[in-house]
Amino acid sequence: MIVEWSDELAIGIGIIDDQHRKLIDRIASFSEAVESGDKLQMEDTVNYLIGYAIQHFGAEELIMIRNCYDQFNEHRDEHSWFIKQVFELHRKLVCGEGMTREDAAALRDMLVEWTLDHISVKDKRIASTLNSFGGPLRK
Ligand SMILES: [Fe+2]
Repeated sequence: MIVEWSDELAIGIGIIDDQHRKLIDRIASFSEAVESGDKLQMEDTVNYLIGYAIQHFGAEELIMIRNCYDQFNEHRDEHSWFIKQVFELHRKLVCGEGMTREDAAALRDMLVEWTLDHISVKDKRIASTLNSFGGPLRK
């Protein structure tokens, strides 16, 4: 499965777009590891992904809070869902019974689908709402 950034995903807030590129790169690294079937590579890339996802969601949430975003709670719930899925992936791969390549691929597909949909709909809404205020973005 090919996972890559496309300009259609840009939401128009530079600091977030840069982070989304990195997030997608990290999902792509995990995806490649799943294709290779290399367990250690899967563990490494999941670690790499979870670290960045937490950092990025935190930055995005701070922008929402500082700019009094009206759908903060719903948005944060979506981030939490993603983190829980990646936690489960990590738990199974690193701390648990392990995973079959098919199960890892299914989870990977779900994470990819969620990420593209989340950026295209929910994150774009942040940008359109905050840009409509007209004032400078509080970062
Ligand atoms: Fe988001």
